[in-house]
Amino acid sequence: MIHGIFYYLILLSNVTYAATSTQWRSRSIYQILTDRFARTDGSTTAPCEPGYEGFCGGTWAGITQKLDYIQGMGFDAIWISPVVEQVSNPTRAYHGYCAKNIYSLNDKFGNKDDLKTLAKALHDRDMYLMVDVVPNHMAFDGNATTTDYSTFYPFNDRSFFHQVCFIYDWTNVTQIQRCWLGGETNPLPDLDTTLPKVRTEWNTWIKSLVTNYSIDGIRVDTAQNIEESFFPTFGKAAGVFALGEVASYYTQYACNYQRYMDGILGYPAYYTSVWFFNDTRAQSYNMLYDFKNTSALCRDTSLVGEFMENHDKPRFASYTDDMSLVKNNIVYIMLKDGIPIIYQGQEQHLKGGEDPLNREAIWLSGYNTDAELYKFIKKLNAIRKMVIIKASTMVTSFLTSKATVVYYDAHNVAFAKGPAGAMILTVVNNNGAKAGNYTLKIEKSGFAPLTEVVELLTCTRTTVGQSGTLTPTVTEGRPMVFYPYNLLEGTSWCEH
Ligand SMILES: *[C@@H]1O[C@H](CO)[C@@H](O)[C@H](O)[C@H]1NC(C)=O
Ligand SMILES: *[C@@H]1O[C@H](CO)[C@@H](O)[C@H](O)[C@H]1NC(C)=O
Ligand SMILES: *[C@@H]1O[C@H](CO)[C@@H](O)[C@H](O)[C@H]1NC(C)=O
Ligand SMILES: *[C@@H]1O[C@H](CO)[C@@H](O)[C@H](O)[C@H]1NC(C)=O
Ligand SMILES: *[C@@H]1O[C@H](CO)[C@@H](O)[C@H](O)[C@H]1NC(C)=O
Ligand SMILES: *[C@@H]1O[C@H](CO)[C@@H](O)[C@H](O)[C@H]1NC(C)=O
Repeated sequence: MIHGIFYYLILLSNVTYAATSTQWRSRSIYQILTDRFARTDGSTTAPCEPGYEGFCGGTWAGITQKLDYIQGMGFDAIWISPVVEQVSNPTRAYHGYCAKNIYSLNDKFGNKDDLKTLAKALHDRDMYLMVDVVPNHMAFDGNATTTDYSTFYPFNDRSFFHQVCFIYDWTNVTQIQRCWLGGETNPLPDLDTTLPKVRTEWNTWIKSLVTNYSIDGIRVDTAQNIEESFFPTFGKAAGVFALGEVASYYTQYACNYQRYMDGILGYPAYYTSVWFFNDTRAQSYNMLYDFKNTSALCRDTSLVGEFMENHDKPRFASYTDDMSLVKNNIVYIMLKDGIPIIYQGQEQHLKGGEDPLNREAIWLSGYNTDAELYKFIKKLNAIRKMVIIKASTMVTSFLTSKATVVYYDAHNVAFAKGPAGAMILTVVNNNGAKAGNYTLKIEKSGFAPLTEVVELLTCTRTTVGQSGTLTPTVTEGRPMVFYPYNLLEGTSWCEH
């Protein structure tokens, strides 16, 4: 009997929460740079000045204690920095992308129990854990030409790696996949992932990592530096949703990787949207291409991870502090097709520029839940969740329906998404907060004639015209989100 219970407990402890693409599709992700999010003791003191390169003290236990802050904004998943043991140089190790031993954890972030506790705390809240993984390379503290391969585990021999060469031509795919990132004095030794022995190691590792720590999804770093054929078996071994980083503006190139893995990061939309929203002079044509190209070229637009900031790119507010522009960009990436990803600190309107300035310690802003963008993002997550649920009884789901542009001019774009009768109409512009007020004439809004609609960010009601026309007034450059008013019944939205 005792034996039986014991056996049952062992089984239970091995149950992974492992989540599939279908389960991730409805989620909303908060991206955490582990070293910069929260400390175990909750302290918020220096040292960690802007641009600091080295460990600032963030930990997994720190994250566990701050889940209210994240969930309070409406997120139901987090993505954390790579978790494995790093090279000893702290200026290269604090972010987690410089692995030395993939079977050992980064003790600066905590121990095995801390990571398991984080996963459990997330699951208790029905939140998912996404872990960043880096199968493309290891890192070496020393010169490339004198790399000591015996310092790596388990890839402890030169034969696991590509010959030394550095990428200088980012149009040459062979070079991107075969040569090394970094440089002679800060090399990232590039694994030859075409070799069966390398693939076997990675597949064995990812399977046990996901199992040991109950991981629900993985974000695959520098996926474009690995040949596509690596991913089907790696993804299968992981057994969870895999989101690849293909850091390219070119939709065709980025979407190609989605034929080999579940999802990709939305770099095409990142470039087009930030380019449009950060400059009031930019015109909308790139935005139109973003819809068309992604829809035509990506296997599944609902599994593209859409974002406007991350730890590699300057923050939006480093270009402009205009609140209307930032809100338009947030609305765009959160309500278009795909899984929204918000990078820690966006909610506090942080404005760090190029890496490392964009990796501010979040504790310095005091986790202010009254911040304007904290509340704005919370509202957008709630809107997305509501429209997903309202459309869930319909033939077409909100999530798998494709957004289509129903109106555009040089500075305004309106797109409809969702099934007829439960669609949402999002109207964005890049005129900025100082723009005068003006009225748009959206001839074919997509709403049925005479539908009473409500603009969800202001709770303003209007009625659609006889032929489906909507004539919204853009006020001080703010974005708008229209939805049938009758669908608010039974919700607390706009005091229906
Ligand atoms: C490392 O490479 C740099 C640049 O090529 C060179 O100046 C330096 O002498 C090298 N150091 C060693 C220890 O080989
Ligand atoms: C691409 O890069 C590889 C590796 O560096 C090189 O051998 C090849 O000549 C390059 N191809 C072109 C077209 O430049
Ligand atoms: C997972 O746990 C097993 C059993 O303790 C261990 O052998 C394996 O190395 C662990 N895997 C990772 C990636 O830590
Ligand atoms: C989108 O497609 C158009 C037309 O084929 C092309 O000119 C443009 O470069 C593409 N844009 C991106 C970002 O891929
Ligand atoms: C932001 O706007 C500036 C000025 O127009 C432009 O040069 C820059 O490329 C834009 N940034 C992005 C990421 O598009
Ligand atoms: C735009 O509309 C808002 C809200 O109605 C009003 O407060 C503001 O004064 C208007 N701005 C201009 C320039 O007319």
